[in-house]
Formats: sequence, structure tokens, C-alpha cells
Amino acid sequence: MSEKPWDGRFSENTDKLVERFTASVAYDRRLYIYDIEGSIAHCTMLAKAGVIAEEERDALIKGLKQIREEIETGNFVYDDSLEDIHMHIEARLSEVIGKTARKLHTARSRNDQVALDIRMFLREETRQIIRSLRKLRKTLTDMAGQHLDTVLPGYTHMQRAQPVLLAHHFMAYYEMFQRDTERFQDCLKRIEVMPLGSAALAGTTYPIDRHYTAKLLGFSKVSANSMDSVADRDFSIEFLSSAAVCMMHLSRMSEELILWSSSEFSFIEISDAFTTGSSIMPQKKNPDVCELVRGKTGRVYGDLMALLTLMKSLPMSYNRDMQEDKEPLFDAVDTLKNCLAVFIRMLPNIRVKADGMAKATESGFLNATDMADYLAGKKGIPFRQAHSITGKAVAYALSRQKELHELSLPELKEFSDFIDEELFDYLSTEQMIFRRQSFGGTAKENVKSAIAQARKCLENENA
Ligand code: ARG
Repeated sequence: MSEKPWDGRFSENTDKLVERFTASVAYDRRLYIYDIEGSIAHCTMLAKAGVIAEEERDALIKGLKQIREEIETGNFVYDDSLEDIHMHIEARLSEVIGKTARKLHTARSRNDQVALDIRMFLREETRQIIRSLRKLRKTLTDMAGQHLDTVLPGYTHMQRAQPVLLAHHFMAYYEMFQRDTERFQDCLKRIEVMPLGSAALAGTTYPIDRHYTAKLLGFSKVSANSMDSVADRDFSIEFLSSAAVCMMHLSRMSEELILWSSSEFSFIEISDAFTTGSSIMPQKKNPDVCELVRGKTGRVYGDLMALLTLMKSLPMSYNRDMQEDKEPLFDAVDTLKNCLAVFIRMLPNIRVKADGMAKATESGFLNATDMADYLAGKKGIPFRQAHSITGKAVAYALSRQKELHELSLPELKEFSDFIDEELFDYLSTEQMIFRRQSFGGTAKENVKSAIAQARKCLENENA
């Protein structure tokens, strides 16, 4: 049995089952690097404040660095009786440097330490996620640039609605991932707050300099209330909700790619390297990557719910319940990072079947709105009436199994005397797209400037 930091007060050893039940080291060992960095900064600050001697600081730092080495080379022994990574490192430090190790825990507690470690972990992971999102946005912008002349039906209610440029469609996803980027950037503001030195909950009697510790660790802010410092997990919840929204976007794109690669749509083909086959049906090529991304979205929603529920009604300040925050957080970080990585690789490996997309714009009365616009805008018929005239023409065309542009001028004139040859111009896909020049519309010039704007934005971000 290992010695416990609280041994003084206890006369009985911890039950073995309880040791196993309370241990978190199996997963929080992942935080070791931040724990060590935090401890190095803490003892540097303690020495500067005159709380420990400089030789003691040097011994502590040397020992901590050795432990980091041991962990990284797989020469570190983990044991449930030492609960978490914080106790493991401190116990090993005692073995390595002796009695001085016990000074490290002056003016701080594990409550502060775990808050610091998660914040440092999330700061790093959030920055990486923002970088991945930048790559994804760049990929989408490149794909949009290649498809400024590819048209496909835009849908509402999963019904063909009006033709759009594929570039415009890709840029719609760009917008979603741009908002995700902003959300994560905003999240960083609340993550980057330094909690160490709260000393469990009430602050400490030692003359510590928390701002100096923050500076050493690259934090711009220091937590303002020692109780809130150890009780706060809002930043994790904000991160998880941003991750959930981002996964929702990935799941929507996945769903479209799945539909588009079906024989029913046949708009795209996902390359062999990003699909799998069936063990029984030789003809199959399945969009598993997209399906898994869609499926994993549920996990991340679950992670968010887990943390919201965990924190609900917890009284001030730290409660052991909060140890349960790490697994959902790690799961969401890993899931989102993996999904982004696989998407960034898969997207350029999609072959667009431009002919099939274009063909789909030719049926389904995608030009009905434009006929109404022609009657209203060009011929001055009130829009409601124009809508009704067009509706009748659609019903007639349907009964003849034709499209609007396949009707003859005399047939069309039956519905309104105002109709002339020029209408056919309005009904072509090319013209329909060309005329949608309102800001944010699908006209090629608009989409080109949206792409240029996105490129500028990507260039201005630090890679
Ligand atoms: N393993 C704990 C956690 O992850 C660290 C803090 C423990 N504090 C305590 N007073 N038991 O939350």
C-alpha cells in the first residue's frame, strides 16, 4: 500500500475496492505533461516569492523533468492506490529527490491542479482543432474554386427547388466551419484562465504571486475567485457544445455525401481508399467513413450531456463528482479530431459527376420560380397572380409529362397573353443562376467573391 497524502488523519488503510473505485489514473495520466509543466511553474514562483529556497526549486525541477522522461519512455509505474496522476507524480518525486518533494504542494491543492491541467490540455487541443478547421475550410474553398461551373439542384424539404452552383453548396459548408472556428476561438477566452494557487478553495496565507505563475504558463488571465477557480467547468461545457455543433455540421455533410453517392442520386463517387466493401455483396461500395462520422456525432452529444448533467446542482466548490469530467471531454476531443482529420483527407478524393448533377436540374420544375419572376418582374403581373399562372402551367406540363421549357410558346400563351419568346431565356439553368445576384446568392460572380473573401480570411489566420 502506498502512503497517502492524508495519512495523518487516518488510522485505517483504504479498502482495495475503494482504491479501485476512486482511481482516475487510468485516464487522467494523459494530463501528465501539463501537470509537470504546472508544477515547474509553481515551484519557480514559490522560489521567487521566497517560500522555498532556490536549491529546493532546482531539485524539484530536476526531479520533475526526470519523471517526465520516465513517463515518456514507459518507465513509470502506475498504481491505483495512488488515485490520480497528480499523486503519482508527487509520490515519485519523493522517491527521486527525497524530502524536498513535499514542499511542492505548498499553497496549492489537487483541486487547483486538476483545473489547471484540464485548462492547459483544452487550450492545446482547441488550438489544434482550430488548425484542422482551417485546413477543412481551405479544402472546401479549393473544391468550390474547381466547381464554379458545376450546377446541381438545390433542395428544400429534400425536394428539388432551384439550381445552384456546386461551388455555392461547398461554400455553405465553409460558412458552418467558419462559425465553428469562431466558436472555438471564443471558447479559448474562457479556457485561458489560470486557476493554480487557489489552495483548494479559499486562497492561501503564503505570499504567492499567481500572476507570475500565469505568465510562466502563458496564461493571460488569472482566475478572480478561489472558490470559482476549483468549481468551474463551464469552459469544458462550452468546448463540448462547440464540438457538438461542429460534429452536427460534419454529420450533415456526411449525410449529403452518403445520399449523393447512392445510385439514386449518383452525383459523386467517393474513392476506394475511403469506402469499404461488403463481405457478401460483391457489387457494394459503402460510404462507411461518412456513416461513422454521422454516427460519432451521437457520442459527442452524449459527452456534452454527460458534463452538463454532472455539473447540475453541484454545490460550491470542488466535489469529487467532478473527476468524472475527463472521460467525456477526452472522448469528444479525440472523436472530433479524428473526424476532422478523415474528412480533410477524404474530400479531395471525391469525384464529382457533373453531368449527372446538371441533368438533375433539368427536371422537377426547378425553373418554376423563374417563370413567376418573369411574369411579375418583367411583365408587371402581381406576384401572387404570376405564381398562380405558373402553377397552372406546371399542372398542365405534368399532365403532358413535360417540363416548362419543353412546352411550346402557343401552349404557354394559353396561361397568359403576356408570355413571349423571351421566357425561354428565363427558364435556362444558366440564366437562372446568372440572375441570382443578390448578396449571398448563387450567381457565379457572387460565389467567386465569396471564395476570394474566404481565401483572404484563411491567409490572415496564423497557420
Ligand atoms: N482526481 C481528482 C479529479 O480528477 C483530482 C482532485 C481531487 N481532489 C480531492 N480533493 N480529492 O477531480
